[in-house]
Amino acid sequence: MTHATAAGRFITFEGIDGAGKSSHIESLAGWLRARGHNVVVTREPGGTDLAESLRDMILHRQMDAMTEALLVFAARRDHLQHRIEPALAAGWTVLCDRFTDATFAYQGAGRGFDYSVLAQLERWVQQGRQPDLTLWFDLPAAVAARRREAVRAPDRFEAQDEAFFERVRGGYAMRRVADPERFVVLDASHPPDEVWAQIEGAIQERSLW
Ligand code: TYD
Repeated sequence: MTHATAAGRFITFEGIDGAGKSSHIESLAGWLRARGHNVVVTREPGGTDLAESLRDMILHRQMDAMTEALLVFAARRDHLQHRIEPALAAGWTVLCDRFTDATFAYQGAGRGFDYSVLAQLERWVQQGRQPDLTLWFDLPAAVAARRREAVRAPDRFEAQDEAFFERVRGGYAMRRVADPERFVVLDASHPPDEVWAQIEGAIQERSLW
């Protein structure tokens, strides 16, 4: 491993449900490992025992948007402390399926919860930590809905209507406007091999490795 002493990179994957990001996370992990990098693949809400227990509640129990926001940030706190920060300090690349952009998109834009409170929680919980790169799998809510129908029983979020997911998509767009350097927008309505080519191109273009 050639980068053991340098801090690792933190890459997040975002998009509405049905955008198709999961298989690409595994592909990018394989691509990086083939180039000699140590890679952690993790997800939010989740990534530690405690955070996975919170995930189960967040996805399946009824609660209001404030409770959702507090629980996702509680899970994030534990995940950062016990998994993400130690891995980055050891020089590992961390690939995380969703992070705080999802909170602004789902609890903020989707559910209508106060952005300024989310921003305060973000500062408290993350202490300045932000992803080095965010791959945003963007596609219209109607296309994502058709893809989801083919898959499995929906959780509380996946069961939302198309208007909810268009708001979530708008929430991601706002986060991107606020931090354009961090975001790479992928056209996720294209077939998987074309989306992968976009990812590979973006990673190489940014000279992160
Ligand atoms: P998802 O990442 O889509 O996992 P899977 O592919 O296994 O279903 O599921 C996580 C859900 O949690 C997703 O619908 C978005 C939601 N979520 C929030 O509402 N807020 C958050 O901060 C995060 C991280 C996720």
